[in-house]
Amino acid sequence: MKPIILDVDTGVDDALAIAYAVRSPELRLLGLTTCFGNVPVDEATRNTLYVLERLGSDAPVLQGAQEPLRRKRKEAVRHIHGEKGLGGVLDIAPARKAERQHAVDFIIEQVRKLPGQVTIVSVGPLTNLALAVQKDPGIAEWVDQVVIMGGAVRVPGNVTPHAEANIHSDPEAADTVFRSGLPITLVGLDVTLKTLLARDALAAWRRKDPELGGFLAEMTDFYIDFYESCLPGAGGCALHDPLAVGVAVSADFVTAEPLHVQVRLDGEELGRTGELPGGRPNMRVCLDVRADEFVKHFLSRVI
Ligand code: BDR
Ligand code: CA
Repeated sequence: MKPIILDVDTGVDDALAIAYAVRSPELRLLGLTTCFGNVPVDEATRNTLYVLERLGSDAPVLQGAQEPLRRKRKEAVRHIHGEKGLGGVLDIAPARKAERQHAVDFIIEQVRKLPGQVTIVSVGPLTNLALAVQKDPGIAEWVDQVVIMGGAVRVPGNVTPHAEANIHSDPEAADTVFRSGLPITLVGLDVTLKTLLARDALAAWRRKDPELGGFLAEMTDFYIDFYESCLPGAGGCALHDPLAVGVAVSADFVTAEPLHVQVRLDGEELGRTGELPGGRPNMRVCLDVRADEFVKHFLSRVI
């Protein structure tokens, strides 16, 4: 079992990624660290605790960054992830609280405790990870793998024509992480937009397990509505954050190439993740995905 830390800004697709991780026997969830992003960090923590409760998991939750490294935090994207971040689900009152330890200290502690073993799957802005390598740069050589949902290397962005949302939310954090020497696999829009969770799947979830399936379906319905408002006829939504978990479960879902990727830190291309041709590779970038195989696997695990 691979020990993993899942870094989230729980929103709808983060919640689906949490369900996938909790239900994957290949992974041992050491803890979930939270960051601002889709919602403010205290809401991301609340949502994470609630999703875990619905899944019957007692994995520890550690709250992290409230703000980007050097910029003002952007508004929550409630039109995409719902009023509280979990789509149409509004009654979110988890019984459990987050641990007292800060997310950044937890990341450093776990990597030091299990040298060479920990996989970090980051599906929100990269602020917690950037703060961890700034505080203890030595951890970069002791992490087994960092799987990042973020970036758009050979495709347009989703929050601007150039930038993907997680990178755009804290470009300086992404820049810090990309330069840190951490062993990164980038799961960006190049591959996540090739995945599709069809709306039909939600009816099947509701039938199979009215409790958990009903909860996940109510949440995801809202997210699909947003997708369809941008892409009429889409018939579903992309599985951005779950694909990062999928790659941690099995690298065979994707084809990746070693590339040097840089983040634009100013101008209208702010947050763009561009290749530096001929540059020394600083990560593996996923460029293709066996989408049907992955979606089938995801569906076979969550409910
Ligand atoms: C990413 O942005 C967030 O809104 C999603 O949760 C995902 O992590 C997709 O660009
Ligand atoms: Ca996310």
